[in-house]
Amino acid sequence: MKVLLVGATGNLGLRLVTALLTRGHTVVAYVRSSSKLESLLPANVYSAVTVVEGDATDTALISRAILKNDCDAVVNTAGVAAMAPWKRSNLPEIFSAVLEGVKQAGLERGEPLRVWFLGGLGVLHFPGTQTMLSNYVPIFLEHRQNIERLRALPPGSVNWSLLCPSTMIPENLGISMPVTSTHGKLTANATTPPLWMDSWLKYIPFLGRTILAAMNAPRYDTTLEQNAEFIASDLEDQDSRWSGVTVGVIDAAK
Ligand SMILES: NC(=O)c1ccc[n+]([C@@H]2O[C@H](COP(=O)([O-])OP(=O)(O)OC[C@H]3O[C@@H](n4cnc5c(N)ncnc54)[C@H](OP(=O)(O)O)[C@@H]3O)[C@@H](O)[C@H]2O)c1
Repeated sequence: MKVLLVGATGNLGLRLVTALLTRGHTVVAYVRSSSKLESLLPANVYSAVTVVEGDATDTALISRAILKNDCDAVVNTAGVAAMAPWKRSNLPEIFSAVLEGVKQAGLERGEPLRVWFLGGLGVLHFPGTQTMLSNYVPIFLEHRQNIERLRALPPGSVNWSLLCPSTMIPENLGISMPVTSTHGKLTANATTPPLWMDSWLKYIPFLGRTILAAMNAPRYDTTLEQNAEFIASDLEDQDSRWSGVTVGVIDAAK
């Protein structure tokens, strides 16, 4: 696929550049600074991508970048959710601008675009309930309003998926191609975290689910490279099983 990668200079974005290229996709990197991207990528990788400079809050420019470069998919890794509930980041503004740009481009070309967004573990449901994990451990709450935006879309206007990892750590500090990873493929599940560790602790009044959610959280740490590979390989499928859902991931081999 031809993929517009918004936020290519970030931790996940850089790994996505090489993961997408390794999987045979064409990459159009949408960044604020092409010189920053050039300084972060090996020369052979940088020369393999098309670069568009722009701000991720610029809906019109994003839509134009998609149409002008004939992209059929978008991955947005730009903007980072604030951890504390009382803090604010530019993620909600970026999320709605990219979503609107993707929607408009889809309308103009007469076919919805495939798009991966990033959320966090907290927007997945506590297994067996309809309640988000972030109701019990209230951090990174900005992802919640992003889900509302996805759910409010007119049906069939955007073919979205929301990857909801816990902490992602780098396997390799440098970026290289082809990608080398010592970790296996991620195990994924829609709506709730895969391979949840259940316990009687959840029945403790008031605090039980919070304790169990906090105990489970570290089990969902994955690597940036694994998540980049997960998205890159999903984009090989025309009919993704992750369309229209939140997706939890775990490194089951850990
Ligand atoms: N890292 C984790 O452990 C983790 C876990 C769960 C979810 N997530 C989510 O995953 C996503 C990616 O995380 P990350 O660690 O890769 O973040 P990161 O390294 O901080 O990268 C953020 C990217 O956003 C770009 N950006 C920020 N504001 C922008 C704007 N106005 N216009 C264009 N680009 C802009 C930055 O570009 P510049 O280089 O120009 O500043 C950078 O490329 C985030 O949404 C985060 O909330 C991360």
